[in-house]
Amino acid sequence: MSTRKHPRLLRYIEELQGDHPWGTFLDAGTGVQSIRWVAELGTERWTAVSASPRHAEHVGNAIQQAQRENDRIVLGNWADPNLLKGESYDTVMADYLLGAIEGFAPYYQPYLFQRLRPLTRKMLYVKGLEPYVPTLRPDDKAGRILWEIGRFRDACLLHGDGLPYREYPAAWVVDNLRMTGFEVLKVKHFAIRYKKLFVNAQIDICAPIIEKLADRTLAKALKARGEALRAEALDVIKSDGALCAGRNYVIAAKPV
Ligand SMILES: C[S@@+](CC[C@H](N)C(=O)[O-])C[C@H]1O[C@@H](n2cnc3c(N)ncnc32)[C@H](O)[C@@H]1O
Repeated sequence: MSTRKHPRLLRYIEELQGDHPWGTFLDAGTGVQSIRWVAELGTERWTAVSASPRHAEHVGNAIQQAQRENDRIVLGNWADPNLLKGESYDTVMADYLLGAIEGFAPYYQPYLFQRLRPLTRKMLYVKGLEPYVPTLRPDDKAGRILWEIGRFRDACLLHGDGLPYREYPAAWVVDNLRMTGFEVLKVKHFAIRYKKLFVNAQIDICAPIIEKLADRTLAKALKARGEALRAEALDVIKSDGALCAGRNYVIAAKPV
């Protein structure tokens, strides 16, 4: 079993699983954080899927020592009907996968859980983020700053070649799971406390895109906007300890 070094949403999933064996495990949208956790669970074997060669390589490097003979990292896209065709797993986890789909298979989101259904033998855990960009302007200071950072970041990504994440609300996921042959057992939200690392990462990710903009007047204005947002957010973190805004969720479901 893992320890407090893993994020609390993953520890909550352990709580939900209780004494039930994990069996064979599919990390359907893998990353360094999820695979390090999965590797400590005592699964029979695991398969970790990523659509990004760079991501798959990072995961491979991070898990090298712990990877067993039958544990696999698979590079593939859920929009490809042949990916893991005919396979099934006792436990499946979609850990921030739904929000990331947009970058690899735009408009595929409504089909994701239908796609994962035949692969799921016993339990599906979905981890996600309540959307905070396509919302009305929040009234509270922290919520408003997070909303502005998200809009700034996504605007920069769109100016470059990127496709921003498209998050879905837990209520949408619950409906979609029910329509695709799952029984929803648990839905839990977790308030988020964003720290300095998050704010800096969001602003810094825009720098190389801004750097390449042909319109230098726009580039200068965007750079200044990013720095103003950084300063405002870091001020709040200094005084309040965190930017307390937004919510993550965990949903547990079983196939019916
Ligand atoms: C935000 S990352 C997941 C974070 C990860 N669970 C962690 O703990 O670090 C999203 C993952 O889903 C994968 N992904 C996104 N869309 C995909 C698709 N259409 N097919 C397969 N994998 C996909 C990405 O390549 C990436 O590995």
